Amino acid sequence: MNEQIVILDFGSQFTQVIARRIRECNVYSTILRYDTPAAEIARMNAKGLILSGGPSSVYADNAPLPDKNVFKLGIPILGVCYGLQLLAHYLGGKVEPGQKREYGKGTLTIKDPSCQLFANLPETLQVWNSHGDKLTKIPNGFTAMAVTENSPYAVLENKERRIWGLQFHPEVAHTPRGKEIISNFVHGICGCGREWTMLNYVGQAVEDIRKQVGKEHVILGLSGGVDSSVAAALLHKAIGDQLTCIFVNNGLLRAKEAEVVQEVFGQHFHIKLQYEDASKLFLQKLKGVTDPERKRKIIGKTFIDVFQAATKRAGKAKFLAQGTLYPDVIESVPIAGNPAAMIKSHHNVGGLPKNMKFELVEPLKCLFKDEVRVLGLELGLPKEIVYRQPFPGPGLAVRILGEVTKDRLEILRNADAIVVEEMKTSGWYYNIWQSFAVLLPVRSVGVMGDERTYEYTLAIRAVESQDGMTADWVKLPYEILEKLSSRIINEVKGVNRVCFDISSKPPATIEWE
Ligand code: XMP
Repeated sequence: MNEQIVILDFGSQFTQVIARRIRECNVYSTILRYDTPAAEIARMNAKGLILSGGPSSVYADNAPLPDKNVFKLGIPILGVCYGLQLLAHYLGGKVEPGQKREYGKGTLTIKDPSCQLFANLPETLQVWNSHGDKLTKIPNGFTAMAVTENSPYAVLENKERRIWGLQFHPEVAHTPRGKEIISNFVHGICGCGREWTMLNYVGQAVEDIRKQVGKEHVILGLSGGVDSSVAAALLHKAIGDQLTCIFVNNGLLRAKEAEVVQEVFGQHFHIKLQYEDASKLFLQKLKGVTDPERKRKIIGKTFIDVFQAATKRAGKAKFLAQGTLYPDVIESVPIAGNPAAMIKSHHNVGGLPKNMKFELVEPLKCLFKDEVRVLGLELGLPKEIVYRQPFPGPGLAVRILGEVTKDRLEILRNADAIVVEEMKTSGWYYNIWQSFAVLLPVRSVGVMGDERTYEYTLAIRAVESQDGMTADWVKLPYEILEKLSSRIINEVKGVNRVCFDISSKPPATIEWE
């Protein structure tokens, strides 16, 4: 088992960020529920324990509390924000409601430079706070190692018991040197090596997959998105021709998408690829449908029907592979104010029916998205696939308002190709969350040469986001907007007007349907 750091989750929206920062230090990390028994942690080869932040107050009736025995595990412990208050509360200190919430940037001044958490760091650091409660008395055996403007107890240490606490959040980007603090904890204090790399993971995952699958066959639904593509490449490395990938063309894909998938996976990787062209069927089912929710339902159901029939043709397989990621399997802590729970349900759209009689293979289920991308590169997948922007399952259908027709798909596909090309040429494509075109079912008057035209309007959407839950529209330079508009109007037949969507989410959504 990998050496690892265990994080107990008390419901902070940043718990997963702590886990990612630790892994960026090449140390494996696992998130567990706050009340996981100490005995279970002891069995996990944990080299250190982190108590996360959380929205509760330690003195509240229903405050989430850990198993007391975690303090007796004998491994180093670091409490972050609520985690610090928790260990102070448990070990004899005092936490009280603060006069006002300490929120935002602060300056940390280190009082005792011998503190290992701050090895090789300057005496003052910018840090980021978000807490309402205040530590008013520290427990016996602890020393305050650093202060902020508002807190004389911003960092606590009990060197003998190897317990530390930080009142601020080292994991967030607003604590610019926070990753070094985390590295000092996992390497300097816990003594972890640097074994967690995607190169090492390939070997380990290949072995695990072979052990699970044996000589049986595996089916994978390949969408061309990052997760299923990386899962396909990894499984193929492990079991070669025992893997069959099914790619369904629903007719709602972007330009050249089906060709690229066939080229990369079929011709380059020599993966057994079963190509199912169901574009006519999808269009037929969508005929006359304008309601966004009905569209999604029809597409979801048709996909399942087509996929299910395709698995029968694929031959006998015991396993179905899925590109499930770590955030989908972390048991979220049901504490009010934890948005992680919402993110999860939002992204779990359109699973396969339970009656499909397969066992699951999920080779990415302990990885975060950024790790999956690195793994993809390690396996030789092109950057175009590994760093591609998210594309919704229902495809272009949710970017054509109103009825989806062959002609409208053609117009949108042509315009979308220009948006993708220009965003890539200008370097913006890989720096933002999503950029795409939306076809509006309204026509307006224009002139072209001497003639009056009466054609469709197209909207361009470009957004920045961390997780798709909230988003800001991107302030693209006028030159790019100008180029997009003139190319689309000149090159795409059927469009005579281009608009730029300047709405943020909320209250708008990223997709228009
Ligand atoms: P909204 O439109 O809800 O989109 O702001 C948030 C993010 O989710 C993507 N999205 C989907 N992804 N199936 C998917 O796989 C879907 O049905 C779906 N709907 C929206 C959207 O592209 C954005 O990144």
